[in-house]
Amino acid sequence: MKTIEQIEQYAKDNYVPIARKPLVDYMINIIKENNYSSMLEIGTGIAYTCILLATNTDINITTIEYSDDRYQICKENITDFDLNCRVNLLFGDATKLELNTNFDLIFIDAAKLKNKLFFDKFSPLLNNNGTIIIDNMDLKDFKQRVSKDKYEKYYNNNQELIKYLESLDKFVVEYLDIGDGILKIRHK
Ligand SMILES: C[S@@+](CC[C@H](N)C(=O)[O-])C[C@H]1O[C@@H](n2cnc3c(N)ncnc32)[C@H](O)[C@@H]1O
Repeated sequence: MKTIEQIEQYAKDNYVPIARKPLVDYMINIIKENNYSSMLEIGTGIAYTCILLATNTDINITTIEYSDDRYQICKENITDFDLNCRVNLLFGDATKLELNTNFDLIFIDAAKLKNKLFFDKFSPLLNNNGTIIIDNMDLKDFKQRVSKDKYEKYYNNNQELIKYLESLDKFVVEYLDIGDGILKIRHK
């Protein structure tokens, strides 16, 4: 039986990016305050956030991971925490997978340059009172690890995403300085 600290340590040792704790705590609060019962996560990683949310709330989670290695680790971790009944782990490329259920919370945390695509594809599945969270708007760790050109490409992509989301009639978008900076998007 693994502990959440062991999963956190594995992520650190193996350079698997995971959501920062303040963001996880923020999502736990959103779920509890709004009585959310369903969530979609794009990018499971090694199931760190997914396990924390499922063990601290009653939420049912569908989560998508396309790396075979990470998917296998997720399977193990989710089973270790006895969460198979509330976590539906899907293996595949989220840009291609078709889902037809609705969700209260959608957490977009996969390939950052595809955030607009993920938003356009999955936002129609958001329930009326739902919330979409997009992580890593600040790119704090990323900036330390990559070249200036690469950082600028991702930074510009984030700025374009904000402009795009703000131009939409149906949604209201808010930047929040939580963890690595997030966008919180809700229906108007
Ligand atoms: C930042 S990690 C996810 C961390 C996780 N949300 C957490 O907080 O514990 C991003 C993950 O998204 C996965 N990913 C990237 N693009 C994807 C795609 N198109 N479909 C599914 N998974 C994807 C990567 O393999 C990686 O494991």
